[in-house]
Amino acid sequence: LEPPKIVVPKRQLEEEVDDGKKKVTIFFGTQTGTAEGFAKALFEEAKVRYEKASFKVIDLDDYAADDDEYEQKLKKESFAFFFLATYGDGEPTDNAARFYKWFTEGEEKAQFNKLHYGVFGLGNRQYEHFNKIAKVVDDGLADQGAKRLVPVGLGDDDQSIEDDFSAWKELVWPELDQLLRDEDDKGVATPYTAVIPEYRVEFHEKLDTSSEDHNQTNGHTVHDAQHPCRSTVAVKKELHTPESDRSCTHLEFDISHTGLSYETGDHVGVYCENLSEVVEEAERLIGLSPDTYFSLHTDKEDGTPNSGSSLHPPFPPCSLRQALALYADLLSSPKKVLTCFFYALNEICLNDLTTERNDHFALFQSALIALAAHASDPTEAERLKFLASPAGKDEYSQWIVSSQRSLLEVMEAFPSAKPPLGVFFAAVAPRLQPRYYSISSSPKFAPTRIHVTCALVYEKTPAGRIHKGICSTWMKNAVSEESWAPIFVRTSNFRLPTDSKVPVIMIGPGTGLAPFRGFLQERLALKQAGMELGSSVLFFGCRNRRVDYIYEDELNNFVEEGALSELVLAFSREGPTKEYVQHKMTQKASELWSLLSDGAYLYVCGDAKGMAKDVHRTLHTIVQEQGSLDSSKAELFVKNLQMSGRYLRDVW
Ligand code: 2AM
Repeated sequence: LEPPKIVVPKRQLEEEVDDGKKKVTIFFGTQTGTAEGFAKALFEEAKVRYEKASFKVIDLDDYAADDDEYEQKLKKESFAFFFLATYGDGEPTDNAARFYKWFTEGEEKAQFNKLHYGVFGLGNRQYEHFNKIAKVVDDGLADQGAKRLVPVGLGDDDQSIEDDFSAWKELVWPELDQLLRDEDDKGVATPYTAVIPEYRVEFHEKLDTSSEDHNQTNGHTVHDAQHPCRSTVAVKKELHTPESDRSCTHLEFDISHTGLSYETGDHVGVYCENLSEVVEEAERLIGLSPDTYFSLHTDKEDGTPNSGSSLHPPFPPCSLRQALALYADLLSSPKKVLTCFFYALNEICLNDLTTERNDHFALFQSALIALAAHASDPTEAERLKFLASPAGKDEYSQWIVSSQRSLLEVMEAFPSAKPPLGVFFAAVAPRLQPRYYSISSSPKFAPTRIHVTCALVYEKTPAGRIHKGICSTWMKNAVSEESWAPIFVRTSNFRLPTDSKVPVIMIGPGTGLAPFRGFLQERLALKQAGMELGSSVLFFGCRNRRVDYIYEDELNNFVEEGALSELVLAFSREGPTKEYVQHKMTQKASELWSLLSDGAYLYVCGDAKGMAKDVHRTLHTIVQEQGSLDSSKAELFVKNLQMSGRYLRDVW
């Protein structure tokens, strides 16, 4: 399949600015689109509720070009909402990073006395820094004189974040009623009905996509998630031995002549296709031929733009097969709130799901409702509506979330639901997102290659489906010199110390080894260039030396060549008891303490929920015991390590 180019989404929605109207700005810091979707959901509903105010949704990155502009513009705002996701190790999303840095750094804090605000956070309770970014911004704004309208919303992705959002939204309206409505309309609810977002679809006889611009750079000189760059797989290798019942792929993307560059410790984003078996299943459930050629449009038939449109820009014209393979997330569980909305051409009332025009409407953003609206069997429609409703909350969380039912499984269970393509791509299937990997090479060693070390995702869900990870399966099946994917580089702060003499401690079991392979390649290159290296220790763990000890020869070579001073191994399934990296850390406690006392940098990479938490606890204990500190002093020591950038984590 030749993927058409990926189109730049427009990240700002603006209502007509009409002087005299109260203005409300809705900001989002989003990584996969959920925060953006919530921001737009609030926008759509607020517009209908408060006709006398004007609303704007804006990407935090697009809001201001520099710190001064953030300050000046924000000081002028009267009403603002912030949708902020927390990622990885308590970090802001890429598009909120600049804002967050400005907001949290600096001595002199600006005062925002004019501002009324609300913050909704997107996070996951399983992680250590649950909703850190939202909490910090919420507290910070209050400290800086702004007036908090509602308590910070703590969205928890581990449960049903849509329900958290809905509950928070219900707190917002009474406050806005007070602020945005005139005396005479206070208490009068604006009538609104729900609509299901929909693209206008044009069908085509056949499309010639062979002339599409598929050159190496896609015509862009800067590559990011919106402008990825075609890159061919140069090398693919299995890293586990045949004895293994799992799989781990080493893959090298060729980036020569692409304009792409990277630094040791960066991430690569990869756009993958759905597996053909998944695509075929989707075709069957939609009930259209794979060779249906079509294009999506957000304008009206007469060509006039659909003002207020907040749908994703359409993907380029293509066949149904291509569209399903490249753009539709078919395996995630259907969300209660979809990540894109717009003024639909056919508004479908929430209550009776009939198609009807109505001047006052808001959007009900649910894949389940969109399916319900197009289910010919009334019993199925009822049950879908129930699942999407507040009354069906428990059932939704059990039958869909906990059992990890995919969109396709849900469609399978409701065979009469056959949404048309314009609805399917707008309201039912979210856009397929790129997958991110820690790059496992260094440009000093491999300037024209990006190496990836990727464990195969292959697991049985509670509902009994075999879930195959899209990208890891693609990588496993990739063919050297033939397979290719659109990729881009995301910079990270996971970097070696600038002074090569500073000691480093690396902890990376399993594929957590990836960035450290890059670090060690870099250290070897530095050594060969005559630089002096500080000492280094790597803790690596896997199940069994014979089976999943990845890159064994390379690691031994790093030791022989002096790029790595000490390699410490933990095999978890060789003996009667589990040996994990943190057990080895405990054994090496005094050595670690002396390295830390010498200014060592400490790096952890890998699983966030189990390993990184346990390693963190072990570190705390080591500091406490070796430094003869009490628990709170030890905590402070570890915090200081973190604050000074000497304890860095790349965890997922
Ligand atoms: P296990 O699968 O035998 O439990 C790489 O995945 C290695 O990390 C494996 O040896 C795995 O062991 C181990 N591992 C699993 N959970 C861990 C944890 N909480 N802390 C450290 N290592 C862990």
